[in-house]
Amino acid sequence: MIIAIASDHGGYALKEKIKEYLREREDVKIVDLGTNSEESVDYPVYGKACGEAVASGKADRGIVVCGTGIGISIAANKVKGIRCGLCTSVEMARLTRQHNNANMLALGGRTTDEELAIRITETWLDTEFEGGRHKRRTDMLDNM
Ligand code: RB5
Repeated sequence: MIIAIASDHGGYALKEKIKEYLREREDVKIVDLGTNSEESVDYPVYGKACGEAVASGKADRGIVVCGTGIGISIAANKVKGIRCGLCTSVEMARLTRQHNNANMLALGGRTTDEELAIRITETWLDTEFEGGRHKRRTDMLDNM
């Protein structure tokens, strides 16, 4: 699975930690779309780039990180075909896959600690979409 990953400066440190975890997984190839330091940048640029990588099929899924995960998830969700879920718990990660078929995960680098963020990422990667009635609803999202 190809995972595109991007962050702003507020999410940079956590992005690097998530990459360390992803490198340990044999089923994942990482495409890092930046940013590459803690110098201030604009999260819409990185949310859009990661969303476009997923929507175009260059990546299978995407992970975006900003200070709270809020701004960069809003940016990603403006790209047609993206269903980006901001998760602050393992339960949310499980449900955003099972019910929303989220093709992108957003995390908050200043609001979610590293260890929890990695457990969230692992659950989000390893949980399948349930389909059924949830498919009707994700189709509605995709047609908006
Ligand atoms: C940057 O200071 C901060 O606003 C950003 O990382 C994010 O939290 C926005 O939602």
